[in-house]
Amino acid sequence: MTTPVLELRNVNKSFGPIDVLHDISLTVNAGEVLCLLGDNGAGKSTLIKTLAGVHRPTSGQMLMDGQPVLFERPKDATDRGIATVHQFGGTFPLMTIGRSFFVGMEPTKGWGPFKVFDRKTANEVAVKAVQSFGITRIDDGDRLIGGLSGGERQSLAIARAVHFGARVLILDEPTAALGVKQASHVLRIVLEAKRRGIAVIFITHQVTHAMAVGDHFAVLIRGALAASFKKGERSREEITDLMAGGEALADLGAEIETYMETHDGHPPQPVH
Ligand SMILES: Nc1ncnc2c1ncn2[C@@H]1O[C@H](COP(=O)(O)OP(=O)(O)OP(=O)(O)O)[C@@H](O)[C@H]1O
Ligand SMILES: [Mg+2]
Repeated sequence: MTTPVLELRNVNKSFGPIDVLHDISLTVNAGEVLCLLGDNGAGKSTLIKTLAGVHRPTSGQMLMDGQPVLFERPKDATDRGIATVHQFGGTFPLMTIGRSFFVGMEPTKGWGPFKVFDRKTANEVAVKAVQSFGITRIDDGDRLIGGLSGGERQSLAIARAVHFGARVLILDEPTAALGVKQASHVLRIVLEAKRRGIAVIFITHQVTHAMAVGDHFAVLIRGALAASFKKGERSREEITDLMAGGEALADLGAEIETYMETHDGHPPQPVH
Protein backbone atom coordinates (compact mmCIF):
# COMPACT_ATOMS: atom_id res chain seq x y z
CA MET A 1 0.00 0.00 0.00
CA THR A 2 1.25 3.47 -0.85
CA THR A 3 1.32 6.22 1.77
CA PRO A 4 -1.31 8.87 1.02
CA VAL A 5 0.05 12.30 0.15
CA LEU A 6 -2.51 13.82 2.47
CA GLU A 7 -4.59 12.29 5.19
CA LEU A 8 -7.15 13.58 7.64
CA ARG A 9 -7.84 11.64 10.83
CA ASN A 10 -10.94 12.44 12.83
CA VAL A 11 -10.84 16.13 12.04
CA ASN A 12 -13.39 18.39 13.73
CA LYS A 13 -13.84 22.09 13.14
CA SER A 14 -15.99 24.48 15.12
CA PHE A 15 -16.34 28.22 14.95
CA GLY A 16 -17.16 29.09 18.54
CA PRO A 17 -20.34 27.15 19.34
CA ILE A 18 -20.98 26.23 15.69
CA ASP A 19 -19.77 22.75 14.78
CA VAL A 20 -19.07 22.70 11.05
CA LEU A 21 -16.97 19.56 10.48
CA HIS A 22 -17.56 16.31 12.36
CA ASP A 23 -14.96 13.63 12.63
CA ILE A 24 -13.72 13.70 9.03
CA SER A 25 -11.25 11.00 8.01
CA LEU A 26 -10.07 10.78 4.43
CA THR A 27 -7.02 10.16 2.30
CA VAL A 28 -5.76 11.66 -0.93
CA ASN A 29 -3.31 9.75 -3.10
CA ALA A 30 -0.82 10.89 -5.71
CA GLY A 31 -2.19 10.66 -9.24
CA GLU A 32 -5.79 10.47 -8.07
CA VAL A 33 -8.73 12.81 -8.16
CA LEU A 34 -10.84 12.98 -5.02
CA CYS A 35 -14.22 14.59 -5.68
CA LEU A 36 -15.66 16.34 -2.69
CA LEU A 37 -19.41 16.53 -3.06
CA GLY A 38 -22.19 17.99 -0.96
CA ASP A 39 -24.96 20.51 -0.88
CA ASN A 40 -24.59 24.21 -0.08
CA GLY A 41 -23.34 24.70 3.45
CA ALA A 42 -22.24 21.06 3.84
CA GLY A 43 -18.75 22.16 4.87
CA LYS A 44 -16.75 21.61 1.67
CA SER A 45 -15.05 25.00 1.65
CA THR A 46 -14.38 24.77 5.38
CA LEU A 47 -12.74 21.39 4.83
CA ILE A 48 -10.45 22.59 2.07
CA LYS A 49 -9.61 25.76 3.98
CA THR A 50 -8.49 23.50 6.79
CA LEU A 51 -6.28 21.59 4.36
CA ALA A 52 -4.96 24.86 2.96
CA GLY A 53 -3.91 26.31 6.31
CA VAL A 54 -6.62 28.98 6.40
CA HIS A 55 -8.37 27.28 9.34
CA ARG A 56 -6.86 25.11 12.03
CA PRO A 57 -8.74 21.94 12.98
CA THR A 58 -10.38 22.16 16.41
CA SER A 59 -9.28 18.58 16.95
CA GLY A 60 -7.96 15.67 14.91
CA GLN A 61 -4.86 15.14 12.88
CA MET A 62 -3.56 15.97 9.45
CA LEU A 63 -0.71 14.02 7.87
CA MET A 64 1.43 14.55 4.81
CA ASP A 65 3.38 11.57 3.50
CA GLY A 66 2.45 9.84 6.74
CA GLN A 67 3.92 12.56 8.98
CA PRO A 68 1.71 14.78 11.18
CA VAL A 69 1.60 18.39 10.02
CA LEU A 70 0.16 21.54 11.54
CA PHE A 71 -0.43 24.52 9.30
CA GLU A 72 -0.47 27.83 11.15
CA ARG A 73 -1.08 29.86 8.02
CA PRO A 74 -1.73 29.33 4.29
CA LYS A 75 1.95 29.77 3.50
CA ASP A 76 2.77 26.67 5.57
CA ALA A 77 0.49 24.66 3.29
CA THR A 78 1.78 26.18 0.03
CA ASP A 79 5.36 25.60 1.17
CA ARG A 80 4.50 21.92 1.47
CA GLY A 81 3.07 21.87 -2.03
CA ILE A 82 -0.64 22.26 -1.31
CA ALA A 83 -2.00 24.67 -3.90
CA THR A 84 -5.56 25.98 -3.78
CA VAL A 85 -7.23 27.46 -6.83
CA HIS A 86 -10.26 29.48 -5.87
CA GLN A 87 -13.33 29.82 -7.95
CA PHE A 88 -12.24 32.88 -9.85
CA GLY A 89 -8.68 31.75 -10.51
CA GLY A 90 -6.84 34.81 -11.76
CA THR A 91 -8.28 37.72 -9.87
CA PHE A 92 -5.95 40.28 -11.39
CA PRO A 93 -7.84 41.41 -14.51
CA LEU A 94 -5.40 44.23 -15.28
CA MET A 95 -2.29 42.10 -14.96
CA THR A 96 -0.65 40.38 -17.88
CA ILE A 97 -0.52 36.59 -18.09
CA GLY A 98 3.27 36.60 -17.65
CA ARG A 99 3.20 38.82 -14.59
CA SER A 100 0.30 37.08 -12.86
CA PHE A 101 2.06 33.76 -13.37
CA PHE A 102 4.89 34.96 -11.15
CA VAL A 103 2.87 36.92 -8.60
CA GLY A 104 4.21 36.16 -5.16
CA MET A 105 7.16 34.32 -6.67
CA GLU A 106 9.40 37.29 -7.54
CA PRO A 107 11.05 37.97 -4.19
CA THR A 108 14.02 36.44 -2.42
CA LYS A 109 13.93 32.64 -2.76
CA GLY A 110 16.14 31.59 -5.62
CA TRP A 111 14.39 33.50 -8.36
CA GLY A 112 17.46 35.42 -9.51
CA PRO A 113 16.22 36.60 -12.91
CA PHE A 114 12.95 37.80 -11.44
CA LYS A 115 14.38 40.17 -8.83
CA VAL A 116 14.22 42.74 -11.58
CA PHE A 117 11.13 41.46 -13.32
CA ASP A 118 12.19 39.86 -16.57
CA ARG A 119 9.12 40.28 -18.71
CA LYS A 120 10.29 38.30 -21.70
CA THR A 121 11.41 35.25 -19.74
CA ALA A 122 8.31 35.37 -17.54
CA ASN A 123 6.06 35.46 -20.60
CA GLU A 124 7.90 32.58 -22.21
CA VAL A 125 7.76 30.42 -19.10
CA ALA A 126 4.08 31.18 -18.48
CA VAL A 127 2.98 30.53 -22.07
CA LYS A 128 5.00 27.33 -22.25
CA ALA A 129 3.54 26.06 -18.97
CA VAL A 130 -0.04 26.75 -20.08
CA GLN A 131 0.51 25.28 -23.53
CA SER A 132 1.97 22.12 -22.01
CA PHE A 133 -1.52 21.58 -20.63
CA GLY A 134 -2.96 21.74 -24.11
CA ILE A 135 -4.23 25.32 -23.94
CA THR A 136 -2.59 26.42 -27.17
CA ARG A 137 -4.83 29.44 -27.63
CA ILE A 138 -2.78 31.27 -25.02
CA ASP A 139 0.31 32.25 -26.93
CA ASP A 140 1.04 35.80 -25.80
CA GLY A 141 2.16 36.46 -22.21
CA ASP A 142 1.47 40.17 -22.61
CA ARG A 143 -2.28 39.62 -22.86
CA LEU A 144 -4.31 40.78 -19.88
CA ILE A 145 -5.97 38.28 -17.55
CA GLY A 146 -9.19 40.27 -17.90
CA GLY A 147 -9.35 39.29 -21.57
CA LEU A 148 -9.28 35.55 -20.88
CA SER A 149 -12.35 33.38 -20.66
CA GLY A 150 -13.30 31.85 -17.32
CA GLY A 151 -12.03 28.46 -18.43
CA GLU A 152 -8.73 29.91 -19.62
CA ARG A 153 -8.26 31.66 -16.29
CA GLN A 154 -8.87 28.44 -14.40
CA SER A 155 -6.49 26.62 -16.71
CA LEU A 156 -3.82 29.25 -16.18
CA ALA A 157 -4.22 29.05 -12.41
CA ILE A 158 -3.91 25.25 -12.47
CA ALA A 159 -0.91 25.32 -14.82
CA ARG A 160 0.73 27.85 -12.54
CA ALA A 161 0.22 25.72 -9.43
CA VAL A 162 1.61 22.66 -11.17
CA HIS A 163 4.54 24.58 -12.62
CA PHE A 164 5.58 25.70 -9.15
CA GLY A 165 5.59 22.17 -7.85
CA ALA A 166 2.16 21.58 -6.33
CA ARG A 167 1.76 18.02 -5.08
CA VAL A 168 -1.80 18.53 -3.94
CA LEU A 169 -4.08 20.64 -6.05
CA ILE A 170 -7.32 21.84 -4.46
CA LEU A 171 -9.97 23.16 -6.83
CA ASP A 172 -13.02 24.77 -5.24
CA GLU A 173 -15.76 24.58 -7.88
CA PRO A 174 -13.54 25.41 -10.84
CA THR A 175 -16.27 24.60 -13.34
CA ALA A 176 -19.20 26.23 -11.55
CA ALA A 177 -19.48 29.34 -13.70
CA LEU A 178 -18.42 27.77 -16.98
CA GLY A 179 -20.26 26.66 -20.10
CA VAL A 180 -20.02 23.09 -21.33
CA LYS A 181 -17.04 23.64 -23.64
CA GLN A 182 -14.98 25.64 -21.16
CA ALA A 183 -15.76 23.23 -18.36
CA SER A 184 -14.53 20.35 -20.49
CA HIS A 185 -11.22 22.19 -21.01
CA VAL A 186 -10.80 22.54 -17.26
CA LEU A 187 -11.71 18.88 -16.72
CA ARG A 188 -9.11 17.88 -19.28
CA ILE A 189 -6.51 19.89 -17.38
CA VAL A 190 -7.53 18.20 -14.14
CA LEU A 191 -6.86 14.85 -15.83
CA GLU A 192 -3.48 16.12 -17.06
CA ALA A 193 -2.54 17.16 -13.50
CA LYS A 194 -3.55 13.68 -12.34
CA ARG A 195 -1.46 12.11 -15.10
CA ARG A 196 1.52 14.07 -13.79
CA GLY A 197 1.10 12.38 -10.42
CA ILE A 198 -0.56 15.23 -8.56
CA ALA A 199 -3.22 14.52 -5.94
CA VAL A 200 -6.28 16.54 -6.90
CA ILE A 201 -9.19 17.49 -4.65
CA PHE A 202 -12.04 18.61 -6.83
CA ILE A 203 -15.16 20.27 -5.47
CA THR A 204 -18.23 20.44 -7.63
CA HIS A 205 -22.00 20.44 -7.55
CA GLN A 206 -22.16 18.88 -10.99
CA VAL A 207 -22.38 15.11 -10.94
CA THR A 208 -21.38 14.89 -14.61
CA HIS A 209 -18.15 16.75 -13.94
CA ALA A 210 -17.41 14.66 -10.88
CA MET A 211 -18.00 11.42 -12.74
CA ALA A 212 -15.81 12.55 -15.64
CA VAL A 213 -12.67 12.94 -13.54
CA GLY A 214 -13.17 11.36 -10.11
CA ASP A 215 -11.33 8.27 -8.85
CA HIS A 216 -12.67 8.64 -5.33
CA PHE A 217 -15.76 10.38 -4.05
CA ALA A 218 -16.49 11.78 -0.63
CA VAL A 219 -19.93 13.16 0.15
CA LEU A 220 -20.38 15.64 2.97
CA ILE A 221 -23.77 16.10 4.54
CA ARG A 222 -24.03 18.69 7.32
CA GLY A 223 -20.32 18.53 7.98
CA ALA A 224 -20.08 14.74 8.27
CA LEU A 225 -18.73 12.26 5.77
CA ALA A 226 -21.96 10.62 4.62
CA ALA A 227 -20.40 8.38 1.99
CA SER A 228 -17.03 7.56 0.53
CA PHE A 229 -16.64 5.34 -2.51
CA LYS A 230 -14.57 4.62 -5.59
CA LYS A 231 -15.31 5.20 -9.24
CA GLY A 232 -17.88 2.73 -10.50
CA GLU A 233 -19.17 1.75 -7.06
CA ARG A 234 -22.23 4.00 -7.24
CA SER A 235 -24.53 4.96 -10.07
CA ARG A 236 -25.14 8.50 -11.20
CA GLU A 237 -28.60 8.36 -9.60
CA GLU A 238 -27.19 7.25 -6.29
CA ILE A 239 -24.58 10.02 -6.33
CA THR A 240 -27.14 12.67 -7.22
CA ASP A 241 -29.38 11.39 -4.49
CA LEU A 242 -26.58 11.44 -1.93
CA MET A 243 -25.49 14.94 -2.89
CA ALA A 244 -28.72 16.71 -2.29
CA GLY A 245 -32.01 15.27 -3.39
CA GLY A 246 -31.96 12.15 -1.28
CA GLU A 247 -31.37 13.90 1.97
CA ALA A 248 -33.73 16.79 1.26
CA LEU A 249 -36.50 14.48 0.12
CA ALA A 250 -36.02 12.12 3.07
CA ASP A 251 -36.35 15.12 5.39
CA LEU A 252 -39.47 16.27 3.62
CA GLY A 253 -40.95 12.78 3.75
CA ALA A 254 -40.31 12.61 7.51
CA GLU A 255 -41.90 16.02 8.03
CA ILE A 256 -45.01 15.06 6.11
CA GLU A 257 -45.28 11.81 8.05
CA THR A 258 -45.02 13.62 11.38
CA TYR A 259 -47.67 16.08 10.22
CA MET A 260 -50.02 13.29 9.18
CA GLU A 261 -49.60 11.49 12.50
CA THR A 262 -50.80 14.57 14.36
CA HIS A 263 -53.55 15.46 11.86
CA ASP A 264 -55.63 12.27 11.65
CA GLY A 265 -53.69 11.01 8.67
CA HIS A 266 -54.32 14.08 6.50
CA PRO A 267 -51.38 15.41 4.51
CA PRO A 268 -50.52 19.12 4.84
CA GLN A 269 -52.87 21.34 2.80
CA PRO A 270 -51.63 24.16 0.63
CA VAL A 271 -52.22 27.58 2.21
CA HIS A 272 -54.41 29.89 0.10
N1 LIG B 1 -16.03 31.47 9.81
C1 LIG B 1 -17.20 30.87 10.05
N2 LIG B 1 -17.88 31.10 11.18
C2 LIG B 1 -19.07 30.47 11.44
N3 LIG B 1 -19.63 29.60 10.60
C3 LIG B 1 -19.02 29.34 9.46
C4 LIG B 1 -17.77 29.95 9.10
N4 LIG B 1 -17.39 29.48 7.90
C5 LIG B 1 -18.36 28.64 7.52
N5 LIG B 1 -19.33 28.55 8.45
C6 LIG B 1 -20.56 27.72 8.36
O1 LIG B 1 -20.18 26.40 8.08
C7 LIG B 1 -21.11 25.76 7.22
C8 LIG B 1 -20.39 25.18 6.03
O2 LIG B 1 -19.92 26.23 5.19
P1 LIG B 1 -19.01 25.97 3.92
O3 LIG B 1 -18.71 27.27 3.30
O4 LIG B 1 -17.87 25.10 4.30
O5 LIG B 1 -20.02 25.14 2.99
P2 LIG B 1 -19.84 24.62 1.49
O6 LIG B 1 -20.08 23.16 1.53
O7 LIG B 1 -18.58 25.09 0.92
O8 LIG B 1 -21.08 25.31 0.76
P3 LIG B 1 -21.22 25.88 -0.76
O9 LIG B 1 -21.53 24.69 -1.60
O10 LIG B 1 -22.41 26.79 -0.65
O11 LIG B 1 -19.96 26.58 -1.12
C9 LIG B 1 -22.14 26.82 6.86
O12 LIG B 1 -23.28 26.62 7.65
C10 LIG B 1 -21.45 28.12 7.20
O13 LIG B 1 -22.36 29.10 7.58
MG1 LIG C 1 -18.08 26.41 -0.68
